[in-house]
Amino acid sequence: MPATVIVGLQWGDEGKGKTTDFLAEQVAMVVRYQGGDNAGHTVVTGDEVFKLHLVPSGVLYPHITSVIGNGVVVNPATLIAELDMLTGRGIDVGRVRVSRSAHVIMPYHVALDRGNEARLAEAKVGTTGRGIGPAYGDRAWRLGLRMEDLLDRSVLRTRLEAVLPDKNLVLGGMGANGFTVDAMVDVAAAWGERLAPHLDDSTWLVQAALARGEHVLLEGAQGTLLDLDHGSYPFVTSSNPVAGGACTGGGIGPLQVDEVLGVMKAYATRVGSGPFPTELQDEIGAGIARRGNEFGTTTGRPRRVGWFDAVPLRYAVAVNSISSITLNKLDILSGIPEIQLCVAYDVHGRRVDHWPSSALAIADATPIYETFPGWDEPIHDVRSLAGLPENARRYLTALEELAGVPIVLVSVGPERTQTIERAWRPMRHRGGVPLA
Ligand code: GDP
Ligand code: IMO
Ligand code: MG
Repeated sequence: MPATVIVGLQWGDEGKGKTTDFLAEQVAMVVRYQGGDNAGHTVVTGDEVFKLHLVPSGVLYPHITSVIGNGVVVNPATLIAELDMLTGRGIDVGRVRVSRSAHVIMPYHVALDRGNEARLAEAKVGTTGRGIGPAYGDRAWRLGLRMEDLLDRSVLRTRLEAVLPDKNLVLGGMGANGFTVDAMVDVAAAWGERLAPHLDDSTWLVQAALARGEHVLLEGAQGTLLDLDHGSYPFVTSSNPVAGGACTGGGIGPLQVDEVLGVMKAYATRVGSGPFPTELQDEIGAGIARRGNEFGTTTGRPRRVGWFDAVPLRYAVAVNSISSITLNKLDILSGIPEIQLCVAYDVHGRRVDHWPSSALAIADATPIYETFPGWDEPIHDVRSLAGLPENARRYLTALEELAGVPIVLVSVGPERTQTIERAWRPMRHRGGVPLA
């Protein structure tokens, strides 16, 4: 029963979309397990660029069942727009399934997210403004609406009558407009009508696929350093991107996961506020941002850029039980004379090798770097490790040694085929992948 979890090892935008699309060719099902339309996953095939926020990145293959799991918070308006966009571009969305128990992001969640950020001013988290925190908050508070509730106007009315007065009070305090029960029932019921054919019991869908011996990919959103438990709270998202989140949010048990593939890029980026010890505010950083096109897929905000940080990498490998790694965007480092790699921190004169659990310690960390000679030549057309410049191989080997886990895929461009596959890759050697 092979299930592979794909998880971001940094602050998101590591190229999970590209990696998922690349691997999806050989599997039967791809499941999103957490997050919402704060995610922006880019898939490039030939001249076509797809930016996906909710639909899993396997959707471009006709043989894939794409599942939005119970752990995802769904803004139905975004989902409908995405399904329409895909249909308009010739992609069959008939096999997109949405968990009946996934929670709904309502318009008041979006308004609360934005109002709260405005109120925090300088102390803001820098959220994507998509209502993620308030929707997960209502889920935990047992005040949320689930996708199946959209199918029943009387359920909607009862739940909204209980919830909206408090929401309107808070929104009023923020100087924002409130919402009426009637309007919300109409909007939500229309979403339900449109999405009804896609709603399903996602847990049993996934379990049935695994029981048939089909290979299931679980696609994480965000990254380990944005995890609600493991990131630098409060500068985190409101879900668990780590591999454990694939169990709770995807409907599988821990022993059903047989591979956890970590996705990282050759440098670091972060969108929004929060500590970022290796951040670059010089020309080198600006060059990486320019060549790497580091602008948020969801909000268009410039991403902060820095050198690769191996301190949180070791932490991410541990908490996700990473078994193999994809290294993306190695091509972006071509042309930099010297590449710095952070191997430890100096915190108040003390060397720290472990990612500190204290946000205060991270804020005071000064990186200790090892310097690697760079390489000049573009590497977009390289398709084997042996074909990489020697200095690129050295950098890659250093990353691999610091992670303690094999790098099995190396990406040298955004397009599907711009990928170096190592001869050894666990997924290839597992049996029982009957593909149509
Ligand atoms: P995700 O959120 O983890 O799926 O990552 P994003 O899609 O938000 O950001 C990654 C960006 O880098 C996208 O624009 C990808 O098309 C692009 N990309 C992925 N891998 C590579 C690579 O190896 N080289 C280059 N140049 N671009 C890449
Ligand atoms: P993908 O899946 C990068 C960041 C926001 C903010 C913090 C909280 O494309 O990698 P939220 O809207 O989730 O409440 O914002 O998390 N963030 C991301 N950063 N990539 C993402 O997704 C992100 N999703 C949220 O910028 O700092
Ligand atoms: Mg992204």
